[in-house]
Amino acid sequence: MITLALSKGRIFDEIMPLLAAAGIEVLEDPEKSRKLILPTNRPDVRVVLVRATDVPTYVQYGGADLGVCGKDTLIEHSAEWGAGRSGLYLPLDLRIAQCRVSVAVRSDFDYAQAVKQGSRLKVATKYTAIARDFFASKGVHVDLIKLYGSMELAPLIGLSDAIVDLVSTGNTLKANHLVEVERIMDISSHLVVNQAMLKLKQAPLRRIIDAFAGAIRPAD
Ligand code: ATP
Ligand code: PRP
Repeated sequence: MITLALSKGRIFDEIMPLLAAAGIEVLEDPEKSRKLILPTNRPDVRVVLVRATDVPTYVQYGGADLGVCGKDTLIEHSAEWGAGRSGLYLPLDLRIAQCRVSVAVRSDFDYAQAVKQGSRLKVATKYTAIARDFFASKGVHVDLIKLYGSMELAPLIGLSDAIVDLVSTGNTLKANHLVEVERIMDISSHLVVNQAMLKLKQAPLRRIIDAFAGAIRPAD
């Protein structure tokens, strides 16, 4: 049995064409079903639904053989585990769920001036490893405030000066009168495979990896 860990929403939706290329069709709609283990048309393949941030953990411990998650999630996970110690193999950038990690502030906050003056910035984020590395590389002192969602709210109510969050269209920032002041990195989702499982189940896992590789959409 091959177990694939996916999160509901954009990753699930965007991975469908790649699954189809591998001859895999999920037989239940996760938005309609309450099931967490979904059957596929292939008796030897099943999908488990987990939180996006839990995908690397499930794959690392062998609860799933492979999974799909954002580079943001992978960076935060490896900061916790130490690069190379999690037993995760990342064979493919799937080029889905594309966005970027950025710094944003209230439109009336002079970020450039604050940086120039060497002010200590309060930064709210779910991406503490990415934010810590980024501001350290700029030599900016920050107090990081860990949040798990709705980061855009923090500067609006004075919890922080800035946020580090995912941006795609920019609509969420705009709706909350925030402006993007720095782009930290581009993000897309990657295939993540348990290295030990890859040895144990080499042929079926390689077939899936190869089918995905052949179906990745070309760069814009
Ligand atoms: P969790 O549910 O574990 O807290 P999450 O809410 O970040 O995680 P999703 O919103 O499904 O989960 O996002 C999954 C991944 O999709 C993110 O890790 C990121 O790589 C990517 N992503 C998030 N927001 C966007 C967006 N607006 N546009 C494109 N890709 C995005
Ligand atoms: C993500 C992210 C931003 C938003 C950015 O949230 O956390 O809030 O997308 O996208 P935009 O630039 O196109 O507006 P998501 O929609 O996944 O909601 P979430 O809070 O449930 O993660």
